[in-house]
Amino acid sequence: MATAAQIKSLIRSYSSEDKERFYTIALQVASHEARQGHATLAHEIRELIDNERRTEIKHLKVVPFPKDLKGLLITEESEIPMSSLVLSTSLEQRIQRIIHEYRQQNKLKSHGLIHRRKILLAGPPGTGKTLTAKVLAHELHLPLHIIQIDRLVTKFMGETSAKLRQVFNLIQQEHGIYLFDEFDAIGGERTSDNDVGEMRRVLNAFLQFIEQDHSDSLIIAATNNPKLLDHALFRRFDDVLNYQTPEENERKHLIENILGTFKGPRFAWKKILSASDNLSHSEIDHACRDAIKTAILSDNKKINASQLLDSIEQRNNAYLVR
Ligand SMILES: Nc1ncnc2c1ncn2[C@@H]1O[C@H](COP(=O)(O)OP(=O)(O)OP(=O)(O)O)[C@@H](O)[C@H]1O
Ligand SMILES: [Mg+2]
Repeated sequence: MATAAQIKSLIRSYSSEDKERFYTIALQVASHEARQGHATLAHEIRELIDNERRTEIKHLKVVPFPKDLKGLLITEESEIPMSSLVLSTSLEQRIQRIIHEYRQQNKLKSHGLIHRRKILLAGPPGTGKTLTAKVLAHELHLPLHIIQIDRLVTKFMGETSAKLRQVFNLIQQEHGIYLFDEFDAIGGERTSDNDVGEMRRVLNAFLQFIEQDHSDSLIIAATNNPKLLDHALFRRFDDVLNYQTPEENERKHLIENILGTFKGPRFAWKKILSASDNLSHSEIDHACRDAIKTAILSDNKKINASQLLDSIEQRNNAYLVR
């Protein structure tokens, strides 16, 4: 018999129309029963939930879709190598692990295991989330399909979920990397105040689609607003990578990478690193390229630290104005 707490949670999730929560608790009841030796009951409960989920997906309203997925996806081939991505050692190792598991997927499969392929990237703007998807596409020799979330989400009832289903059908059929960029547009917390019924349905559909996806494609979702993300999402992903603005050693590495042979001798690193303290990778990238442009336009072959400092200051000031 289910515990009192489970029964109360079941009732609560039913009244708040939180189906995912309802299923989760029902599955907990099934596990509880299995542990008690009630294998048949546990099996029946799981069957009931599976059937319920299947019918739910079937009844998602399918809206006739204008000529396949045109406009919804942008496909590109990437030539960005891992070496251009500057991250903390631990994040880098996590990305290397995704690459390694992908390359060794057959070995894993022969032991009944699946390579990590559903990845959530969270962190502030300009820290390399989109770039990571491009690097993975290059390293794994896969096309990168970027889902245009703003086009996916429409105000018409049922249409967004139907489009989402089309995207997941494609994920099944066409092997590649699928990036749901700016994911919080559909991944916002299901119980938040501004929640409208349609968005809740869309998120529920996404949760079901991603859970039932057993393709070989990589599914990456990126957001710079992790607080908005519903907790039910986290457990659907094989890995969640948290991006940060760069630490001192990463800033140095990034600047050296971008300036390359433009870097002048006796570079005043201390000043540069402290001035760039609050900037994102993307802002540092911009500052470096501005300094390179200035050097080229004034026919200089090298950049000295004060020129780069000027560009960094401009970035810092822009940041203050914002
Ligand atoms: N970790 C990084 N290493 C090297 N370059 C970076 C990194 N992060 C950002 N950049 C530079 O900044 C540009 C923009 O970064 P990117 O689009 O990956 O940011 P993002 O994290 O996806 O930001 P947003 O949340 O705004 O989408 C990159 O094309 C690259 O030039
Ligand atoms: Mg991005």
